[in-house]
Amino acid sequence: MTEETRILGIETSCDETAASVVENGRTILSSEVASQAATHAKYGGVFPEVASRLHIEKIHSIVADALSHAYLGLESIDAIAVTRGPGLAGSLVVGMNMAKGLAIGSGLPLLGINHLEAHLYSIWLVEDEPEPEFPILSLIVSGGHSELILMQDHLTYQRLGGTLDDAPGEAFDKVARLLGLAYPGGPAIQEAAENGDPTSFAFPRAWLDGTWDFSFSGLKTAVLREVRKTQPELEAGVETPRPGLPISDLSASFQAAVVDVLVGKTLAAAKEFKARQILVSGGVSANHALRQAFQSQSPIPVRTPPLHLCTDNAAMIAGVGHWRFLAGQRDALDIDVFPTWPITDV
Ligand code: KG4
Ligand code: ZN
Repeated sequence: MTEETRILGIETSCDETAASVVENGRTILSSEVASQAATHAKYGGVFPEVASRLHIEKIHSIVADALSHAYLGLESIDAIAVTRGPGLAGSLVVGMNMAKGLAIGSGLPLLGINHLEAHLYSIWLVEDEPEPEFPILSLIVSGGHSELILMQDHLTYQRLGGTLDDAPGEAFDKVARLLGLAYPGGPAIQEAAENGDPTSFAFPRAWLDGTWDFSFSGLKTAVLREVRKTQPELEAGVETPRPGLPISDLSASFQAAVVDVLVGKTLAAAKEFKARQILVSGGVSANHALRQAFQSQSPIPVRTPPLHLCTDNAAMIAGVGHWRFLAGQRDALDIDVFPTWPITDV
């Protein structure tokens, strides 16, 4: 029988301040997320010092709301799980210090959680679906990472490959800036692409045959080259309207190139390693074209989180906290944040 847990999760690795209570790694009792995206949109990307300051302003009320919306006090919680890395150092510290303060005050165990592992475990939070089945091929695609990971069992990760340069979300964000679209670029490009023709520009697909790695910087450069044809004066990264630019066609063609490579390589890896299921998570897993391509092309089940659990949240931190707690993890109260923490080193 599985041990019952209620875990408080805290997440501040990037530009969302979030807290959540999750029961048994499956049931979300509360999930509070305060996004800073509107503030960072002015800069066209996350401004680290501003992010930390906004986390400090929000963290207390977000944690209080997560507990009160779950109708629980700390006395009903079994452990405090907090994102330790990867992420922005100054932002991670805010969540970590909050978690340490709560752990010291309450005597509850502290669990430092890997943000990528948490994205992966967000699939377990869909409690009305059966638990995923091993062996699992997991694709994590976010603003900072793309990781192709084989899982033979809980909490064990064999990293097959990942991005050599830009992460897919980063590519969406950078191409959106080139096209004069708002931050975050993923949703903006997805919307623009709805009215575009994905075959109008033959953008390159970096297959990197013989490896399970990805590369998206050549694709970004190819989009820049197209943009320069009509906007020779364009300064990189300056957000202004782009008269005469076929934004919908460029968006659709760029998105199709990203989707082709992510889906093609993931399906090939799933076949090679005889996976029973594919899990796709992280901010870019919210992308409709990506979800549709996986569903229509995969011979085995592909599981994605519901949209609100694709981008950063604390339910996924509390969710993986359950599995870590059951596995016996208890961290010292002086653990430090780990901004470059690889998932294979958890
Ligand atoms: O996982 P996440 O919230 O934060 C990180 O851990 O990085 O991912 C954020 C990234 C951003 O780059 C954003 O543009 C991208 O996810 N994203 C999308 C979509 N929604 C968010 N990319 C493509 N299509 C979307 N619908
Ligand atoms: Zn994330």
